Amino acid sequence: MMGGADALRREAEELRVQIERHNRLYYLEAKPEISDYDFDRLLLRLVELERAHPELVTPDSPTQRVGGAITREFPPVEHREPMLSLSNTYSIGEVEEFEGRVGRLLEAEGIRSRDMVAELKFDGVAVSLLYRDGVLVRGATRGDGRRGDDITLNLRTIPTVPLSLGTLDTPFSNGEGREVEVRGEVFMQKKDFTELNDTRPEEDRFANPRNATAGTLKLQDSAEVATRRLWFVAYYLDGLKDPDTPHFRRLQLLETAGFFTGGHYRLCPGMQDIAAFIDRWNEERWSLPYETDGVVLKLNDVRQWKTLGATSKSPRWAIAYKYPAQQATTVLRDVVFQVGRLGTITPVAELKPVRLAGSTVSRSTLHNFDEMRRLGIMLGDRVIIEKSGEVIPKVIRVVTEERPADARPVGLPSLCPACGTPIIREEGEVGYYCPNEAGCPAQLKGRILHFASRNAMDIQNLGEALVDQLVALGLVHDPGDLYFLQEPQLRNLERMGAKSAQNVVRALDESRSQSYARLLFALGIRHIGQATARELARAFPSIAALEKATEAELADVADIGPVIARSIREWFEKPAVPALLEKLRDARLPLAAEEPKPLINSNFEGLSVVFTGALLRHDRQSASELVLERGGKIVSTVSKKTGLVVAGTEAGSKLEKAIKLGLRVISEEEFEAML
Ligand code: IVH
Repeated sequence: MMGGADALRREAEELRVQIERHNRLYYLEAKPEISDYDFDRLLLRLVELERAHPELVTPDSPTQRVGGAITREFPPVEHREPMLSLSNTYSIGEVEEFEGRVGRLLEAEGIRSRDMVAELKFDGVAVSLLYRDGVLVRGATRGDGRRGDDITLNLRTIPTVPLSLGTLDTPFSNGEGREVEVRGEVFMQKKDFTELNDTRPEEDRFANPRNATAGTLKLQDSAEVATRRLWFVAYYLDGLKDPDTPHFRRLQLLETAGFFTGGHYRLCPGMQDIAAFIDRWNEERWSLPYETDGVVLKLNDVRQWKTLGATSKSPRWAIAYKYPAQQATTVLRDVVFQVGRLGTITPVAELKPVRLAGSTVSRSTLHNFDEMRRLGIMLGDRVIIEKSGEVIPKVIRVVTEERPADARPVGLPSLCPACGTPIIREEGEVGYYCPNEAGCPAQLKGRILHFASRNAMDIQNLGEALVDQLVALGLVHDPGDLYFLQEPQLRNLERMGAKSAQNVVRALDESRSQSYARLLFALGIRHIGQATARELARAFPSIAALEKATEAELADVADIGPVIARSIREWFEKPAVPALLEKLRDARLPLAAEEPKPLINSNFEGLSVVFTGALLRHDRQSASELVLERGGKIVSTVSKKTGLVVAGTEAGSKLEKAIKLGLRVISEEEFEAML
């Protein structure tokens, strides 16, 4: 059947070419030709082909981006050359000095050209990618500059990280076994950052896209990283056949090889061009889909990089100009105290509306009482608010010099503004909170709104105004009560009618078909976001199983640490929880992942299985499901209690440990046979 095998190989190759092409059109040229749906179909076909014929898998196949491998530790790696930082300045004057200094140094060497390349400064996380013979072999964080963490598996999931550099007869081919290094920044687009935060519990939101990116790159589950829509922008290339290739040309070569550069770099022959570039992007940067906080200037002639050298921290041939934060002055009209779903009390500044960096600002969080004290803020004060690349502006200073005579101190509440219970401050914490978990209407309202929110049970028509009334009238004491509401009760509420009452009841009814994972997220357990809920649902496929799990068993799931494990146990111990679960059960909500299937065979029954290394025929998730379906358990750390270790290619420390402990270790082929 040679012909058949050849046809399949050709189909796989064609699919790869097509997928890479569409990837490029989408990410690099922003001119997609097919829908996301059609793109996914192509990818799925390739995944199926490769799964059925593992010999067709190539290391740079786009299927290798979907993730699934779990990493417990990111081993340290040494950088080939230290990853330096840049010296920063906020003044054009200093940029001018830098340009003059470089020019004089070069002149002394008899060199005329002092062309600079101006680039945008991306606000993300610096990483290094290493290609050997054109194939991505390692990706690492900057770390302390000399040593970083190996995060290859996570970086592979990023669509704008090329897995290979195309054919070898390019300027990149520099002899067998030679290495090319590409450095750049991993970042998250502003809209993806906002969307991601919506899937996270209030208490664990990321402050800005950079933090979200850093947090994502440290995730142990690469399949989760793949869902986060990270980008890689390349700004540095080393290891070319011709070591004299100027920097500008290198950026172009990076694009040819399939890297994203943003495309906004310019060759600047003099200070005027530099100033014009800086000026232009001061305004235009707000319309970019990602955050930039400045401009980077690099000497184009890389031969001079060595001549100029570096200080211990930064090269002398480059400088970063940072835009000053955008500020506005306005008046503090009032401070209101909001009580969150978990009882935390947050002071919020109500401001006289003012324009700032492209939007109107009328509210801003003051974070906590300590922050208010630090600012020394009084009602009626003039305040300076600032937006420095971030999405949300903050109050940074009170103009005390201009304090009006009638300014009044902000009254700090000692009782919860919603229920009157004395507020508590926990030892060692900045936050104040209302301890009346069971009876505080604000907390209950928060829990209900979270339960109904788009990423949770997605109950349309259950807005704030309605929830307010339901809680105030005592119709709802927990999310379970929602499902026992009758149309006539709703019809008579304010701003409701027969039609809207009907819609609410229907939306509630439809929400019964949401998944168990969504329900877990909707319960609002502290620190359980959407991603964690999904992991939990996979590892403990029913609420009963979750309730039985010990803290240690919980902490054994990837990306679930002791804090989350503790929080889950604490939730189950709350007095109101049994009644809530009973109501949800009576309401026929999905308290378990779909019906457990009958065991296919008993080879894995009761066995705790560890996967290590790369599996060729399965992704981690499907392999785990196969074990679970057969009554086995998936654990991520090797211990005496591990029953079976499945070792793929490039298995490392876990395999060593398994051998040391004398555990049963099998190959992927043997695993298949057991299935
Ligand atoms: S070049 C030796 N170019 O800013 C030169 N860095 O503040 C190394 N950054 O560590 C960096 N955009 O993480 C360079 N276009 C750009 C950049 C950039 C952002 C980051 C990078 C660097 C930091 C220095």
